[in-house]
This record gives sequence, C-alpha cells and structure tokens, in this order.
Amino acid sequence: MKVVLAKEMGFCFGVRRAVELVEQTVAERGHLCVLGELVHNKQVVQRLEVAGVKTVREVADVDDDTVVIATHGAPAEVFEKARERGLRVIDATCPYVRVIQQKARRLSDSGFEVVLLGDRGHTEVQGIVGWARGVVHVVAGAAELGDVLPVEEKPRKTARKIAFLSQTTQSLAAFQELIVRAAHIYLKTTSEMSVHNTICDATALRQQAAMSLASRCDVVIVVGGRDSANTKRLVELCAQTGVRVYQIEVADGLNPLWFEGARVVGLTAGASTPDWIISEVQRSIEELK
Ligand code: F3S
Repeated sequence: MKVVLAKEMGFCFGVRRAVELVEQTVAERGHLCVLGELVHNKQVVQRLEVAGVKTVREVADVDDDTVVIATHGAPAEVFEKARERGLRVIDATCPYVRVIQQKARRLSDSGFEVVLLGDRGHTEVQGIVGWARGVVHVVAGAAELGDVLPVEEKPRKTARKIAFLSQTTQSLAAFQELIVRAAHIYLKTTSEMSVHNTICDATALRQQAAMSLASRCDVVIVVGGRDSANTKRLVELCAQTGVRVYQIEVADGLNPLWFEGARVVGLTAGASTPDWIISEVQRSIEELK
C-alpha cells in the first residue's frame, strides 16, 4: 500500500498568519481572549488554550483588555462593541476575507443587491453579511436563486443592479453555475451585474490537488476539523470522483478496515490542519501496512 500526499494541503496563509499572531501575542502577555474559534481545528485551539488563550463567544464575555478577532472575521458591529468596551482589538481576520467584507460594504453602498454564495451558518458568511449596510442574499447554490432573490415583475432595467460574491471556500464550479443561472434569470431586468470571484486561491489549489489525487487513489483520507468548511468541500469533491473518502480529525480516527484491498491511499488536509497532525496521520497509515 502506497501513501501519496496531495501537492497542496494543510495550513493556508491566513490560518498560519492568525496562529502565529496569537502565539506571539500570548507568549508576550501570558493570557489572551479570542472571539470564537481562532481557526476551525479543535487541536490547534486546544494547544493555544494550554499557552493561555481563552476562547469566548461574545464581546461581553471578554475578561481581558484585549480581544482577537478570529481568522474568519466578524461583523462590523462586533468591532464597535469592542471599541465601546474600550478593548484593544487585534484583528486576525484573513486579509482575503477582509477584501470580501469591504466589497460587500462598497457594493451595497453603491446600490447593488448583493448575492453571496456560501453556508449561512458559517462565521465567515455572517461576518461578510455584517459588513454590508444593505441586504445580502446568501445562497447555498444556483438552485436557491429564484427563491432568495425574486425576479422583478415589471422590467425596470435601469434601476436594478446585482453583485455576486463567494465565500472563500466555495468551489469554482458552484460559483460558475450560480453566475450562469443568474444571467439566465435576471439579465433581462437588470442594468448591471457585477461578478467578483472571491474564492481564495489557497482553497482552489487545495481543491484541484485533492481531485487530482483522488483520481489516482483507491482511498482518500481527508484530515480536518468537523466544522471546517474547506475540509468538508475537499471531502465532497473527492467523493465526486467516485473514490472512497473518509474524513478524520486526528490519527486515532483511522479505521484499518477502510484500507482493505487498497493499493494507493491519498492523503490531503484542510487549510486549518497543522503539519504535526498530518504527519501523525501519515505515520499511522504507513504503520497499518
Ligand atoms: Fe484566508 Fe484562504 Fe486561508 S481566505 S484563511 S488564505 S483559505
């Protein structure tokens, strides 16, 4: 049984930046509060807790003079609340997420109805919605478009402007499908449609690498947090190639039965999975041989 690694996997730029920022700050101060999980990986969060980092849910729960905004960002009102409480804010929002938040604000301020392809429950999406000053229609896919954003009865082409954004971790295929469908439904009654491909390159590269890996393997193991959107997407995309795919958080989650009859095993990991967990998993699969 051969273990093949995906060409791109594990910590992305935004996650590495946030983790390093928090590690350095907590080393200097001995204690630190982060609003929400810094990254969607339980093991990384637990390791930071040992170093003195406390994860809180609300600004009201912060019992420190400093608060860190997590990698996926937060709505504008969270920053305001922190300022009202006189807290120092360390912003660990990934710069690529920050770009989408600013676009959402600028586009809604300029009269665009904003459509965001994303998972409604995800903190990144809630943060982006919370930066726009107008309504943001969140859709999980092209099929939801007509329900979420009704077609205008009377054509008033000169007045309607629609902008399209994507959560950083969506697949390009899903965004392309959304745009094609939107052009079909709305172009007749819309004066301007503005498309912004805000899918993160790190995500796209990990997705391409995972799919190319899956096409060469009998089994693929995806390592990443249960709440990690980009990890879930890697699992879905690998499954689409017809390969057997299993998601685990740590090496302990491996089941020897998964590898029966497998000659080539692929290993990939989400953008918030640290190198030490990937290495442990690789070692454990190799020991199964
Ligand atoms: Fe940022 Fe892309 Fe990572 S948006 S957090 S660099 S997956």
